[in-house]
Amino acid sequence: MRILVTGGAGYIGSHTCILLLEAGYDIVVFDNFCNASKESISRVEKIMGKTIPLMEGDIRNKEDLNRVFERYTIDAVIHFAGLKAVGESVEKPLEYYDNNIYGTLVLCQVMAAHGCKSIVFSSSATVYGDPHTTPIREDFPLSATNPYGRSKLFIEEMLRDLYVSDKTWKIVLLRYFNPIGAHESGTIGEDPNGIPNNLLPFIAQTAIGTRACLSVFGDDYNTVDGTGVRDYIHVMDLADGHVKALDKMNTFSEVMTINLGTGKGYSVLEVLKAFEAASGKKVPYTIAPRRAGDIAECFADPAYAKAVLGWEAQRGIDEMCKDSWRWQSNNPNGYKESNS
Ligand code: NAD
Ligand code: WQD
Repeated sequence: MRILVTGGAGYIGSHTCILLLEAGYDIVVFDNFCNASKESISRVEKIMGKTIPLMEGDIRNKEDLNRVFERYTIDAVIHFAGLKAVGESVEKPLEYYDNNIYGTLVLCQVMAAHGCKSIVFSSSATVYGDPHTTPIREDFPLSATNPYGRSKLFIEEMLRDLYVSDKTWKIVLLRYFNPIGAHESGTIGEDPNGIPNNLLPFIAQTAIGTRACLSVFGDDYNTVDGTGVRDYIHVMDLADGHVKALDKMNTFSEVMTINLGTGKGYSVLEVLKAFEAASGKKVPYTIAPRRAGDIAECFADPAYAKAVLGWEAQRGIDEMCKDSWRWQSNNPNGYKESNS
């Protein structure tokens, strides 16, 4: 079976490629490299000892996608391609709606035209908005507070509508919690552009000396120590969830919506402590005001993923921090050094 991995050069995509190949799937990576480097795929090739078909193109461009489907028989698509920065989406909403919503629309049209009707979509826990209680189950109310989140919500609805119109589609909506960590080789990992928005890359860059000090956004939440609590999940566990979703797809035809989280929440200060222990580095921090749009606490009820996919996260916070640190300390400038 050949899987088209859109956004396969990105953070989660590159890690998922490894497990797809290990599971015996053939793949083709499709990416426009707006937020990734070809170096990530070269490194996956090194890890796996094989060449990975790579096609450069944009999901909004039918011709680009047609070229892939004409060249390869694609059995299913894992659709990672998209823009993902919450703050940027507030400043540039049209770019987010164009790239994420229109891009997914074009992808589905091209898939249908080529008779490929199986898709795993990267949704996000952001679709739960500010949940009334935790842990969060898949049937909780949905809402969005920014264009990025709205793009994910709308794509979920679009894919559900598609299934209603044609029951031969197989659709899995995977709602990720907070992916962190890196492949154990330390050769691929998260490589954000500019100043990181997310906690882990910021901590890692502070530990290595690229950033002077972490701002902890708020210490007056109603949580264990006043700082925000999230469900951090190792990117390799997340990748494994995609392989399990594909395996499951061979046996069903419907829309499935599944949380991928560990079920355990950690506060900012707890993560900081775990990272310091894993890296042996002191990470200076200061308490700053709350970040607009942040919620106090967010963690998954992962029971459905276990029941339906037989999947559960295997790696704990210490391993996540160790693997993040190995990537960061081996590659202080991410993929950039080897490109120059
Ligand atoms: P990423 O930016 O590292 O990967 C996305 C990839 O898609 C990049 O390689 C980028 O170049 C590519 N891309 C973007 N627009 C494209 C287009 N129009 N055509 C072709 N390629 C395009 O992000 P990631 O962290 O790997 O996230 C993957 C997916 O998971 C995204 O859809 C994101 O919204 C979703 N997600 C991420 C997180 C997270 O915290 N990382 C959490 C929940 C959901
Ligand atoms: C985690 C915690 C911050 C940075 C975002 C998106 C979400 C999803 C994952 C894509 C919070 C605190 C952070 C810093 C800090 N992405 N923090 N100082 O906000 O849970 O989720 O990424 O779908 O949609 O919103 O993740 O890593 O930004 O923050 O104190 O410099 O760390 O306040 O409590 P978040 P995050």
